[in-house]
Amino acid sequence: MKEKTHFKVDYDKCIRCGRCVNTCSGMVIEQDENGYPFMKEFDRFGWHGCWRCQHCLAVCPQAAISIFDRHPEDSLPLPPEDMGEYMEELISSRRSCRRFLDQDVEPQIIDRILSAMENAPTGGNSQGVEYTVIDDRARVRQIRNVAYTVMEQKASQGIYTHSFSRFYYRKMKESERTVRKDDLLFCGAPHLFIAHAGCTGKWGEDSKADCIIAAAYFELLCNAHGLGTVMMSYSAEVLNELAPQARKMLDIPSDHYTGIIIGFGYPEIPYARGVQKERKRKIHRYTDKK
Ligand SMILES: Cc1cc2nc3c(=O)[nH]c(=O)nc-3n(C[C@H](O)[C@H](O)[C@H](O)COP(=O)(O)O)c2cc1C
Repeated sequence: MKEKTHFKVDYDKCIRCGRCVNTCSGMVIEQDENGYPFMKEFDRFGWHGCWRCQHCLAVCPQAAISIFDRHPEDSLPLPPEDMGEYMEELISSRRSCRRFLDQDVEPQIIDRILSAMENAPTGGNSQGVEYTVIDDRARVRQIRNVAYTVMEQKASQGIYTHSFSRFYYRKMKESERTVRKDDLLFCGAPHLFIAHAGCTGKWGEDSKADCIIAAAYFELLCNAHGLGTVMMSYSAEVLNELAPQARKMLDIPSDHYTGIIIGFGYPEIPYARGVQKERKRKIHRYTDKK
């Protein structure tokens, strides 16, 4: 069976520039004897044909190509060209937030962020990564209670997660008196975001990377909208290693890799300025510029 892409060219608009041919990573677009593009038949998506990336539609300067019944006039415009400074400031000023207001984030903001998250890249354009978003505070409290009860029970038996031993657990407990109020696990974040995916087989490592990339994109988007965020490996470990019932309450399949959990909400303590990182990071750069 031949797979259908509904690749269509508006011949009145096409200037036969060949950009669609030269960006098609599936190499399934060719030019006919008059220079107009057409899509070859193929049997399967992916390596054997089209990657469903829609780059042909996106790259066409004349808006002459539609595919999968998506039309160029419905695509989002590109961002302004001077985004560099804004992104630099965003990345440099975003901070982890460990105290949140017990308040819902405007649902429209969450909708916007999740809509933008549709564009987070995935290996092989699989789009297999799933997002679990808990913006129901009562449910977050339920999850917290289950995870907490189990974590404390296990700690009393000397059982901890793989990277938070007794020492770290006690430190976290201590932080409940100031930094994390009464919630060392989720910092009282009213909402949670978890990216997860099935990671077995040939594409498994890509899918794990997809989860991590999704978390990073989500975190930046939240900060761009003035929200506080905290990336939490500890609570992820508790859910994965000690309290699988909490994962189950969220219908996260037991065979799914879950990336880091992101708590988000309005910050209780906003930051007044950036920090001054020590710039100790090793950057291995090969350049012939003096
Ligand atoms: C992979 C990863 C795991 C983290 N896990 C936790 C965590 O479990 N709990 C927490 O409070 N912060 C966690 N953080 C936040 C870091 O502690 C924080 O990024 C770091 O202290 C620097 O602060 P900044 O994010 O404001 O620059 C984590 C961050 C990363 C990148």
